[in-house]
Amino acid sequence: MTGFPMRPDGPVRRAVRHSGSLLVDNIGELVTNSPGGAGGPLGLRRDVALLVEDGLVAWIGPARDAPAADRRIDAAGAAVLPGFVDSHAHLVFAGDRAAEFAARMAGEPYTGGGIRTTVGATRAASDDELRATVQRLRAEAMRQGTTTIEIKSGYGLTVADEARSLRIAAEFTDDTTFLGAHVVPAEYADRPDDYVGMVCGPMLAAAAPYARWIDVFCERGAFDVDHARAILACGQAVGLGVRVHANQLGPGPGVQLGVELGAASVDHCTHLTDADIDALASHRVECMCAEGGHTATVATLLPGAEFSTRSPYPDARRLLDAGVTVALATDCNPGSSYTSSMPFCIALAVREMRMTPAEAVWAATAGGAAALRRDDVGRLRPGARADLMILDAPSHLHLAYRPGVPLIRQVLHNGVPQ
Ligand code: NIG
Ligand code: FE
Repeated sequence: MTGFPMRPDGPVRRAVRHSGSLLVDNIGELVTNSPGGAGGPLGLRRDVALLVEDGLVAWIGPARDAPAADRRIDAAGAAVLPGFVDSHAHLVFAGDRAAEFAARMAGEPYTGGGIRTTVGATRAASDDELRATVQRLRAEAMRQGTTTIEIKSGYGLTVADEARSLRIAAEFTDDTTFLGAHVVPAEYADRPDDYVGMVCGPMLAAAAPYARWIDVFCERGAFDVDHARAILACGQAVGLGVRVHANQLGPGPGVQLGVELGAASVDHCTHLTDADIDALASHRVECMCAEGGHTATVATLLPGAEFSTRSPYPDARRLLDAGVTVALATDCNPGSSYTSSMPFCIALAVREMRMTPAEAVWAATAGGAAALRRDDVGRLRPGARADLMILDAPSHLHLAYRPGVPLIRQVLHNGVPQ
């Protein structure tokens, strides 16, 4: 229902088990993200019930008018939100880099150089070991309210290892991203042009059947703008949507490259110039949603990375005040941000990035959906997927107000209690 072009073949709805109708009753505060009326930008509704049928939201209305259903969950006055949409995660890897984190906390800078350490461990791991890590982190995220997650490759960096990373990722999500251009691996260190040729040729051919998106780490020390443009264009030519790791470690061309190529999202955005913000703000698309439209390219902010690399946080206020659509995501990975917690990212965004609690909740739900060009998740309205969480709290405000507290009482994914 947005004006976004969707790939005709994705996302695919996965087979799930549904058993009859389910009523979530006595909802004290419902975040619908379908504004209109007095509910503000989050489309808040009070004292309502929500009916689930066939994995979808079938009805929302006053609790006193709630229809009969096969089963009932009593929310007991708590807040109910759409499930979080984590639009940026690197879950296919082996090993961890806790020692690198400790060194950073003792003053070492983050350069991205540790990526090659994880590449070595990932190549050495079996399929089952990689699958178990994705399973563990996916389950960890779900317990914290995440019902949609994007998963990138990028720690294989050979044709076979990138293809298997994406094949495993595709077992867990429809939003898989080919990140063969994460860094130039050691064996290509003195011939980066050859690596780019390989990424655009046999690696893309092997990865594309399992991928919806293509991404490049466009940064000094990773891929320059010409290499990034070439790789992203190759991906677009075979039908992949574009996302870019941009402007993380310093100012650079990544954000404007993303806008130029019609990227769904530019991610990190830690170092932005006025020209970057103008480029993002000036390309809008209409949508049927009550906000009236989004920027074509979403700025996805990843405060877990700034936390874990002890870096300055991105200026969310500047983006929002310029009218740029903002998403929040975890960047879950063993190097720069080893958290799967969207509530943690919301708390950081409110405390450190001057987002209001409502803006942060929107960015972690509807914003993530916009970054993935999805209109079936991130909102609660009839026809949407019944992906939601019941908080152990009366209001969405508590997600930032009570940081570090496990506030997610129950999660429904496709209408199924987890
Ligand atoms: O998004 N910046 C590039 N990639 C990851 C970090 C990967 C790592 O350090 O292992 C990121 O922060
Ligand atoms: Fe990342």
